Amino acid sequence: MSHHLLQGKKGIIFGALDERSMAWKAAQRVVEEGASITLTNAPIALRMGKINELAKECNAEVIPADATSLSDLEDLFSKSMEKLGGKLDFILHSIGMSPNVRKNVPYTATNYDNFQKTLDISALSFHKVLQTAMKLDALNEWASVIGLSYIAAQRTFPGYNDMAEAKALLESIARSFGYHYGNKRKVRVNTVSQSPTVTTAGSGVSGFDAFFHYADKMSPLGNANADDCANFCVVLFSDLTRMVTMQNLYHDGGFSSMGVSQAIVEDMSGR
Ligand SMILES: NC(=O)c1ccc[n+]([C@@H]2O[C@H](COP(=O)([O-])OP(=O)(O)OC[C@H]3O[C@@H](n4cnc5c(N)ncnc54)[C@H](O)[C@@H]3O)[C@@H](O)[C@H]2O)c1
Repeated sequence: MSHHLLQGKKGIIFGALDERSMAWKAAQRVVEEGASITLTNAPIALRMGKINELAKECNAEVIPADATSLSDLEDLFSKSMEKLGGKLDFILHSIGMSPNVRKNVPYTATNYDNFQKTLDISALSFHKVLQTAMKLDALNEWASVIGLSYIAAQRTFPGYNDMAEAKALLESIARSFGYHYGNKRKVRVNTVSQSPTVTTAGSGVSGFDAFFHYADKMSPLGNANADDCANFCVVLFSDLTRMVTMQNLYHDGGFSSMGVSQAIVEDMSGR
């Protein structure tokens, strides 16, 4: 159901790969709420993915951009402003990839070239997006920028490997850039720390099934899914959250405040 919370707003959604992607659901929801958008992903992902189906549904242009490339990002912002007819009001950065996770390289025997790629793709790209937006003066006052994060930035989840460092860096960039962009243009920058969610990136993490169910049993509300995440993004892009910035906002059914739940105690008691 639409509440017209984003009526007339314009934005860019990064990272919709297939219908399970968090960005896919977010694109559908922001359009339902009245926004017009462009969609973007890395050129290779566009070839593999189904983004054209989503573009048709959302009446959106697809503009390829490798989020680690400043020239691709400049092209993306210029074309998005041209297509959408003006400056932008929101951006969703929904990008994550670790070559070490993909290739099952253990954290304690990491490959540092891979590690640097993890940080570049999953975290520095957020800085590059913000820096390009600022350079081109592409965002309206009170625009809202979100990066998606995970609680492995604060706590240890061994299977998450070097993505933990990437998320810690991502959250720090939100605070640091949030200060500068807030001062300069009243732009808000936040990260949303989402529950484990069944997607291509999520299920690539080793032991994902086990920790998905563990988090679900630990959280009083259960895991937040991709539809819930899309709803939360709508609220954060809306004018109802104008004074929220430089925050890492847990969107996890209560997981981050838990020590142990009765359900987990009961599971362990039978042993
Ligand atoms: N799935 C989970 O359990 C979970 C939990 C918390 C946070 N997140 C985060 O949510 C975000 C979205 O992930 P998802 O779970 O929807 O998986 P996903 O695999 O659907 O999305 C990841 C996206 O990153 C894109 N990408 C990779 N390299 C890129 C590059 N160089 N340039 C541009 N795009 C690039 C991929 O093409 C893909 O579309 C990620 O930041 C992820 O870490 C996921």
